[in-house]
Amino acid sequence: MNDRNGCGCIKIRTPRAEDIPGIRRVVADCAPYLTNYAEYLYFRDLHCNGQTTCVAELGGEVVGWCSIFPAPALAPGRFFLHQIGTASRARHHGIAEELFFYLLPKLAGLKVLQFTIDRKNTAAQKLFHRIAVRAGLRLLKTPGVIPLLEGDSDDELYVMTPDEADGSEVAQFEPPYEGWRRHDGERKRRSISNRISETERTRDTRGPGD
Ligand SMILES: CC(C)(COP(=O)(O)OP(=O)(O)OC[C@H]1O[C@@H](n2cnc3c(N)ncnc32)[C@H](O)[C@@H]1OP(=O)(O)O)[C@@H](O)C(=O)NCCC(=O)NCCS
Repeated sequence: MNDRNGCGCIKIRTPRAEDIPGIRRVVADCAPYLTNYAEYLYFRDLHCNGQTTCVAELGGEVVGWCSIFPAPALAPGRFFLHQIGTASRARHHGIAEELFFYLLPKLAGLKVLQFTIDRKNTAAQKLFHRIAVRAGLRLLKTPGVIPLLEGDSDDELYVMTPDEADGSEVAQFEPPYEGWRRHDGERKRRSISNRISETERTRDTRGPGD
């Protein structure tokens, strides 16, 4: 990857088991938004799901990590983005975006990509808006906050869909759905199509980096 900002030569690649300590260092540096799991869980990710994970390497060190899980048991073409993070010293060089775009072509038959973002995490919100614009994906924030996560996290569930996915792919995220609580102040029910067109307006009017 060419780094326009002079951070050095960044390589995005599929991780190996020996990257796990480096992945955990990156994740630890991403507190409070990522949880640093035990080595064994990262081993399981790489062993069972390695093709939809990647790392960014800079000067022989892991400085970025992304893992996406196929979730075919939920529905064909369904994926869940579990973690994406960049070491603080390597942020603002486009690494997170490139991690995502390295994995995107590997999401075979992608219809819905789900992920959560903490309401306070504006960096991640901007990142995914930029990604949606660049990839031509629809980005939809569902109207629930996920309860029972660690600490004081206040995660919201998002879905991204390719343009060709029909509305039924996301219609199931229409409230109310079991297990999720609504935001205060967001009681007014809006149709999925309204919210998608809002995202499309955003995509039309905002350039990368907005
Ligand atoms: C959110 C996060 C992953 C973004 O990582 P990143 O590698 O810095 O992301 P990017 O470089 O692609 O984008 C970050 C900023 O750098 C800017 N940038 C990217 N490439 C650039 C370049 N070549 N020159 C100048 N600026 C650039 C982007 O425009 C963006 O700026 P903005 O926030 O003002 O819009 C990172 O902040 C992080 O790891 N946070 C903690 C973990 C986390 O929150 N993960 C997401 C959980 S959902």
